[in-house]
Amino acid sequence: MGSLPRPAVAPSSPSKHNAARALIPVLLLSLPIVALLFHCAYHSYECGHHSVDRFHGLEPAVPFPPIDGLAAHTFLYVASYGGSVTTLKLSRGTNTAAASWGLEPVAYTEGCAGSPSWLTLDATNSVLYCTDEGLTTGSEGSLSSFSTIEDGSLVRLANVRTVFGPVSAAVYGKHGKGLAVAHYGGSALSTWDVEDPSTITAVQTRLFKMAQPGPNPSRQEAPHPHAAIMDPTGQFILVPDLGADLVRIYAVRDGELRLTEREPLFVAPGSGPRHLAFADKGDKTFLYLVTELGNTVVGYEVSYDAESIAFEQVWTSGIHGKGKDVPAGGAASEIIVSPDSNFLILSSRNESSLELSNVDPSDITSDPLINFAIDPKTGHLNLLQEVACGGRGPRQFSMNKAGTLVAVALQDDGRVVVMERNVETGELGGLVAHAEIDGEVTAVIFNE
Ligand SMILES: *[C@@H]1O[C@H](CO)[C@@H](O)[C@H](O)[C@H]1NC(C)=O
Repeated sequence: MGSLPRPAVAPSSPSKHNAARALIPVLLLSLPIVALLFHCAYHSYECGHHSVDRFHGLEPAVPFPPIDGLAAHTFLYVASYGGSVTTLKLSRGTNTAAASWGLEPVAYTEGCAGSPSWLTLDATNSVLYCTDEGLTTGSEGSLSSFSTIEDGSLVRLANVRTVFGPVSAAVYGKHGKGLAVAHYGGSALSTWDVEDPSTITAVQTRLFKMAQPGPNPSRQEAPHPHAAIMDPTGQFILVPDLGADLVRIYAVRDGELRLTEREPLFVAPGSGPRHLAFADKGDKTFLYLVTELGNTVVGYEVSYDAESIAFEQVWTSGIHGKGKDVPAGGAASEIIVSPDSNFLILSSRNESSLELSNVDPSDITSDPLINFAIDPKTGHLNLLQEVACGGRGPRQFSMNKAGTLVAVALQDDGRVVVMERNVETGELGGLVAHAEIDGEVTAVIFNE
């Protein structure tokens, strides 16, 4: 394709990053400004609103209600394997005829370089955690904490070395004092004391081993924890392990950062569990697991008993829904549940099954977001729609608090798109804004 302009927010390369690292303590505050000045000076056409017209013709079939959920300062933090974390400001003009959305870079940091893979926001404490997967060294990763500033900039507080391959992190503990990190490449789960986010200290590191490779030996030659996610009660951390075909379960105990291992949840051999999401329906709790190698979504009803958590399988289907095939080469990635727990959305990569036409100057090939309604009684999934997510390789995506917007990180296209969502019907609508980012985009999250 190569259709859209690619306004790299700021140039970044490994060598530049090494030099920059030494200067970071000094230049931290000025970097975003310098980066922006540079950017705007050389790409002035990109420093205004540039998002709407290009996605002309993508209006949803059903008109969407006005978005009232947009906070005055809605920022998106974007991680890229290019070495950067970029802050984009999402805004909406008052011109109501054609909603004029803007998505503009306002800050930039290389404080999580070399290969930022995941972002976790502790909104209560205004701290952003970023994992560097370590792909530039191949031997160890790192974990950084940043103070989130009101102008969108990020001021790094700490950076610690970790086991190789961190790809996901979750805040846990009664007052958000612990951070659990899943290491894909390093076959590990590590935990960190982040009571003071400027002095991150190690609590535990668990290294996992397998006696023999799994059914998919090229991907399951070793355990590969792919995520660390807290359950809705805050009492358990769940760690889907793509290599070992299980979800590792850990109990969080009051006043303790050390996690206690529980019986894992075993899943279909060779399926490769990647990510999961909970639907907390009040009287019932469901858990949905997406598998990357099997391209399935598996649902469980969750029950709690004293200090234990149990799972009863209530659903399994391919990622496109019951009775629907997954295109050859498809690779499921992210799964999220809407804030009202009524809808589930997952993404698949390498399908290139959809086309966005009328995108000036040419069409865009896109992978899908697949949208389901959750049956509140049975936990079954009813396919609602499949939509083009705005490009190729939707590795991760997230929703704003109101559930009115979805932001998608497109790894293969170096792009972030924002699309509208109807909170009542759960339907995803047209793309309202996009931004091109230097490098492979790995994660995008809201800070409202
Ligand atoms: C993408 O899909 C094609 C088949 O359509 C497959 O040959 C290829 O291995 C897939 N690539 C990845 C990275 O999974």
